[in-house]
Amino acid sequence: MGHYRQQVVQSRRIRELKPDDVPAIVLHYAMLGAEDRQSRFGARMNFAALSSRYGHLDWDHARFLGIFSGRQLVALAEVVDEVLDGRPAKELAFSVLPSWQGAGAGERLMERAVERFSKGAGFPLIVYTRPINRPMAHLALKFGGTARLVNGENAYVILPPEAAEGAAA
Ligand SMILES: CC(C)(COP(=O)(O)OP(=O)(O)OC[C@H]1O[C@@H](n2cnc3c(N)ncnc32)[C@H](O)[C@@H]1OP(=O)(O)O)[C@@H](O)C(=O)NCCC(=O)NCCS
Repeated sequence: MGHYRQQVVQSRRIRELKPDDVPAIVLHYAMLGAEDRQSRFGARMNFAALSSRYGHLDWDHARFLGIFSGRQLVALAEVVDEVLDGRPAKELAFSVLPSWQGAGAGERLMERAVERFSKGAGFPLIVYTRPINRPMAHLALKFGGTARLVNGENAYVILPPEAAEGAAA
């Protein structure tokens, strides 16, 4: 089964979601399980709170990259406009359904988000998460993230290529 999931995760197209996909997004977050949902949102989010948040979303400032297995949204990256040190940035938040974790979906989504928003568009990327979230911290570090406080919260920041070279010089 693990091998099957890896194959699905590696072979499916990463799709950009649209307002029509809100039911799939809400269902995805509802199926995460309480602990993972807490890690994802930094707060408890019940079904009503999820429905309200995603039913009233400002689609001009949010994007979603998803991997589906059939009609089920198994992995999701939510990309929201942010500000870092006074400049435009993107916040990334990842979630993978429990039975699909460890199959490489988080990494695929991270790779796509980095290509698109950091290498492609020059935005710094922010992932709010605590270092004790081992899989997320591991993923952020793997893509060149550095741990720092952003707006008083634990985060990993991935700088776009030129800024990262400048910071290293
Ligand atoms: C964090 C999360 C998105 C990772 O997604 P995933 O699809 O399971 O991750 P991947 O399978 O792509 O694995 C990514 C890396 O993390 C590593 N990893 C997985 N579990 C780990 C653990 N417990 N400790 C350390 N590393 C771990 C994997 O080995 C892999 O690294 P490698 O390729 O170097 O071996 C997923 O666990 C999740 O949805 N968690 C709940 C929500 C959450 O915490 N989101 C983060 C806040 S935004």
